[in-house]
Amino acid sequence: MPFGGGPCTIASITLGATVFLVSCGQSGDGAGSLGAPDGETGDAASVDVTAERDGGPMSQDALPLGVGEAQTDALGADTPAIEMRVTQLLAAMTLDEKIGQMVMVDYGALASPSDVTTYFLGALLPTGDEAPSPNTPSTWLGMVDTLRRQALSTRLRIPLLFGIDAVHGNAKVAGATVFPHAIGLGCTRDPALVAQVAQATAAEVRALGLSMTFSPDSDVGQDERWGRTYESFSEDPGVVSQMVAAAVQGFQGAPGLLACPKHVLGAGGTAWGTGVMGGIDQGNAVISEAEMRSVHLPPFQAAIEAGALTMMVSYSSWQGTKVSASAHWLTDVIKGELGYRGFLLSDFDAIKQLGGDSPRQAATAINAGLDMIMMSSGHAGFIADVKTLVQNGTIAASRIDDAVARILRAKLIAGLFDEAEPYGGALGDVGSSAHRQIARQAVHESAVLLKNDGVLPLSKSARVVLAGPGANDVGVQSGGWTLGWQGVTQTGATAIGGTTLLTGMQNAATSSSLVTYSWDGSTVPADTSVGVVVLYENPYAEYEGDTDDPSFTNTSSAQNPSGHTIYDGLAAGVVSRMAAANIPLVLVLLTGRPVRIESWLPHFGAVVAAWLPGSEGEGLADLLYGDAKFVGKLSKSWPHDSTILPLSSTLNAGGPPLFAFGVGLTTP
Ligand code: GLC
Repeated sequence: MPFGGGPCTIASITLGATVFLVSCGQSGDGAGSLGAPDGETGDAASVDVTAERDGGPMSQDALPLGVGEAQTDALGADTPAIEMRVTQLLAAMTLDEKIGQMVMVDYGALASPSDVTTYFLGALLPTGDEAPSPNTPSTWLGMVDTLRRQALSTRLRIPLLFGIDAVHGNAKVAGATVFPHAIGLGCTRDPALVAQVAQATAAEVRALGLSMTFSPDSDVGQDERWGRTYESFSEDPGVVSQMVAAAVQGFQGAPGLLACPKHVLGAGGTAWGTGVMGGIDQGNAVISEAEMRSVHLPPFQAAIEAGALTMMVSYSSWQGTKVSASAHWLTDVIKGELGYRGFLLSDFDAIKQLGGDSPRQAATAINAGLDMIMMSSGHAGFIADVKTLVQNGTIAASRIDDAVARILRAKLIAGLFDEAEPYGGALGDVGSSAHRQIARQAVHESAVLLKNDGVLPLSKSARVVLAGPGANDVGVQSGGWTLGWQGVTQTGATAIGGTTLLTGMQNAATSSSLVTYSWDGSTVPADTSVGVVVLYENPYAEYEGDTDDPSFTNTSSAQNPSGHTIYDGLAAGVVSRMAAANIPLVLVLLTGRPVRIESWLPHFGAVVAAWLPGSEGEGLADLLYGDAKFVGKLSKSWPHDSTILPLSSTLNAGGPPLFAFGVGLTTP
């Protein structure tokens, strides 16, 4: 049955219990064109839709016309049936319904849940620090379900996409399993494990009715001064590509969830001093096209081949042009050369960084190839702007149709149309012991042993002092994007859950009293046989993690252009006090990047880069006591105290490292 594009016949589509009498034709041509429901002239195919609706759920087998089993089992496979369904829906949509699908707005900006219905909104998100109160899995499910049902009460019942930053587990949600951040997962060199982590995360996201995760980060971070270094799997495009593909397949292994590889393109290749706050994040990648293609593009090609149907575009620029405004990268390369058939999502309010007023920003972004615009608020104004831009020809109707077709395709392939109810019964998945076991294994494989003179593994009957504030704080272990955007230290009111390194060691020792804690290293009992010093970075995210020098002694106010305290200056005191105890020492680093430690190396018999391991601190205790073996290999080169940054094996930049990419000792 022909739909859209030209005079077509009267057809009846039964969508669930809703019957639409549909006829379509060229807008304004009269013949067969009965006009859209509200009389407005829309686009290529205006449609008259009269429907009796009982509000029943739209189900997959409701679509006759040979559509049949429109969904695919394996997420990511497009089929002729899917394409026919896209065409049918597009032909039935008004311009308002189409533009509404191109909006992803902060749910906190809605005047009421009915905004979803009023504006036919296609997608929502929580901002970094936004959560229902109290922050529990069930309150998340209740909030998401209310908003999802709004979308299902619209004329065409196009399901809502609800995205969240589940970048190391669904860690905005209290009680969720918090997995190691990507820089550690890159050190595992174990894509099967990364896929398992993504699958577990997907289950904890789907359990709340959410349908999209803004991950995997697919950036190839080159400069450790970048506050997002920990979100990137590696400085090496091959490692990043392998892990991104595994994560996409893990996230999309079951219906109902879309991965969203990010940030297209070159976010990890920007130059210090060009960043949004004067640092490096959201800055300018002053690199050749060849370097963009060889270093930063491969992970997104891998993501597309793995079935990615949404990808997020970077705030950053390339050679002075915002990527959000770059038809070259978005349309010519990503959609053209790579054949990407999913949709491109802007970053949060990223189009506001483009020149001109709101309509100009919208036109620039959409004409460059952005298909869905993520915004903090202003959805009504945006929709009105874009409608005017289409009606005055600034944005072609075909561009809108292409964008909406991509969005519909992603929602159809993800099985969102078929999902009648959220997995309310799956609330037990959130923070489950099975997922925590996967996280513990990920901690085992992500930590890297950089030095060991034999002090490791520790004896479980030895008296151990654990020193440093990070030793007893799941928030410090977890880093950014945990409960809140910038992460939390565990002094906060809402518990993350999980175990600290201290608890893990006390549980593992033959007697918990054998492991004592001294937050500043000033208390070392006389019969102590070994000290474990934990140095850390205070949690941070994005540009608030940019630092002019990744060093524990960098306490200058310039350490971070936005004033965030990353290094609190306590480290040197802890090291000197523990060194004065004249006992064997182990250094454990809870950091989002390699941090300069060369001058302190002689004090330590062993050095462990634990990165940001997340909620399962017991996994670190397993490694220190030898219940698990070290296998991790550095995913990022480690600078000397004097190294000029950026330091990258990929770019052969910065000179010889203190520890090279790929280094990692094993334990017997
Ligand atoms: C942020 C980040 C992006 C995140 C998005 C939604 O600014 O750049 O990685 O997914 O906004 O929180």
